[in-house]
Amino acid sequence: MLVKDLENIFHETLDVIYGKEEVSSFFFLCTEAFYNISRLDIALNRKISITKEEQQPIFNALEALKKEQPIQYILGETEFFGLPFKVNENTLIPRPETEELVQLIIDSKKSKTSTQLSILDIGTGSGCIAIALAKNLNNAQLYALDVSEKAIEKAKENATLNNVDINFLEGSILKDDDCNTLFKNLEFNIIVSNPPYVRNLEKVEIQNNVLNNEPHLALFVEDNDPLIFYRAITKFAKNKLKQNGQLFFEINEYLGEETKDLVESFGFKNVEILKDIFNKNRMLKANI
Ligand SMILES: C[S@@+](CC[C@H](N)C(=O)[O-])C[C@H]1O[C@@H](n2cnc3c(N)ncnc32)[C@H](O)[C@@H]1O
Repeated sequence: MLVKDLENIFHETLDVIYGKEEVSSFFFLCTEAFYNISRLDIALNRKISITKEEQQPIFNALEALKKEQPIQYILGETEFFGLPFKVNENTLIPRPETEELVQLIIDSKKSKTSTQLSILDIGTGSGCIAIALAKNLNNAQLYALDVSEKAIEKAKENATLNNVDINFLEGSILKDDDCNTLFKNLEFNIIVSNPPYVRNLEKVEIQNNVLNNEPHLALFVEDNDPLIFYRAITKFAKNKLKQNGQLFFEINEYLGEETKDLVESFGFKNVEILKDIFNKNRMLKANI
């Protein structure tokens, strides 16, 4: 079958759901992933074809896209901070906003210190924050915690894929026993977290492909205590940050001021809310 005929089938089936441009992008991601055929290859040679035996994966992908499954889960991979990451239904798909958080930390540290840094990422998921930091701060020793055994499994795979050394720890930041055992003799220069922060009342704003496919453990918090993770992490950070240590959060855009107040109530200084590229309150940084 000619690849350009396959492309037409993708458009006929999916344009009504996603629009032409996004379908083109899905199609070329699939040809690249399944057949190592790039968009440029197809533009240069409209006669490229694949055999009947080779067709199954791309038709499976078409079916999954029809059901609005995220392309990243269908292909089992994505990119974050220019690095490859394996993802599955146990790991949140890394978001561009989180790349901004990583950049903020790198900018605050790069070339400012040559001493060894110890950094903890809480709720690591795919490992994207910890791995991107390890890749870009060569004087940093990274630790990464998640409550999900299966997420940790993927994150370990991603650390190997990206050739970095990370200390992965399995446990809950909400449980004092876990924290006391796992972090007994450890202290950090930086603690970073993108914890679950979407309230149930915000579910109406969440697209179906996210709601029906991404792990709810990674996304949602109860309406009556939406800052549960921020409180636990800030309390933990108060005890575990070294002198001049820094705390970095990705935050719920609607709860910026409340999150700032909470962090200040633990005695943190220079607490600052920063906006993302969409001009939404998205990051918070603070000093011990
Ligand atoms: C919003 S996701 C962030 C994932 C990843 N860091 C990222 O930025 O894409 C939150 C993560 O927190 C983890 N998590 C949920 N409850 C937790 C808990 N009690 N202790 C530690 N991690 C938890 C979830 O499994 C999920 O991986």
